[in-house]
Amino acid sequence: MREKLEALLAAAVTELSQVGTEEGLQELRVKYLGKKGELTAVMKGLGALSPEERPIIGQVVNTVKGELEVKIDSAALQIREAKKAEKLRAERIDVTLPGRRQPIGTRHPITLVIEEITAIFAGLGFTVAEGPEIEHDFYNFEALNFPKDHPARDMQDTFFISDTILLRTHTSPVQIRTMLEQEPPVRIIAPGTVYRCDSDATHSPMFHQIEGLMVDKGITFGDLKGILTIFINQLFGQGTGVRLRPSFFPFTEPSAEVDIACVICNGKGCRVCKNTGWLEILGAGMVDPEVYRHVNYDSEIYSGFAFGMGIERIAMLKYGISDMRLLFENDLRFLKQF
Ligand code: PHE
Repeated sequence: MREKLEALLAAAVTELSQVGTEEGLQELRVKYLGKKGELTAVMKGLGALSPEERPIIGQVVNTVKGELEVKIDSAALQIREAKKAEKLRAERIDVTLPGRRQPIGTRHPITLVIEEITAIFAGLGFTVAEGPEIEHDFYNFEALNFPKDHPARDMQDTFFISDTILLRTHTSPVQIRTMLEQEPPVRIIAPGTVYRCDSDATHSPMFHQIEGLMVDKGITFGDLKGILTIFINQLFGQGTGVRLRPSFFPFTEPSAEVDIACVICNGKGCRVCKNTGWLEILGAGMVDPEVYRHVNYDSEIYSGFAFGMGIERIAMLKYGISDMRLLFENDLRFLKQF
């Protein structure tokens, strides 16, 4: 009986050494120690022994049972520890690993220029006005004193949607909308998108302008020149050369084109300024009485000036961009530089 018990223990220990899972251990426990287990069967047989043998063998049974229980328990502990260690290893977080950076966008150069110009004019008391990009002929042309056969109405320049609806070709219709809505004094700038049927290295079918309008009693051409000179000096630097040339717009009289001394060669003459030393940056003039008539302003009482400039051109000059198309291609290598 004693040998049988020892063989049983030896067999159990061998089996134990081959078990690697908690389920396996449980099976082993049932096999030897369960109600119908092998050791239990031996214990049940104790009753058949002689009274002298019974306590001796009983003791051996208890020792074997205790030993087996301890061995199974410690194996269970080992398996649990190994499992935990594996889990910790698999879920390990390397806190010294640098974080993954979320790329942060930058503002588009066109936005930067609009914001800068808006801020300069805000400092001069101008507020921002807006108008629709799909515009009525009346606001884009008619009220701005474009005669019916004016070449700017030609299909070449204007994207027409119907006979009377079009994509605005400039921000000047915002002048009309503003004056129809409010009485003088008026001091607004109107940044926005405009459209013309034109596309090459210096023209895009969609581009941006900023319009300016100031109307009050006693506004003169001197105010126009003064405001624009202050603006140019703030945008391109103090002491930037400014020049006004006579020009023509249907909605201003007199009209001027405003040049700045070439920002590349400082007025000496280069490829960018086509050796003139000057760069044209905006159109301007005193609001034509014919425009006031369309918005019911009394041109005997009020006078004022308007101006308009292309943002892309200013961005190109400010940042030294040679091809306008770069501004619309959304190439991150380009955009990241701003
Ligand atoms: N709207 C004109 C253009 O697009 C610019 C301009 C605006 C000129 C205001 C004079 C006054 O070219």
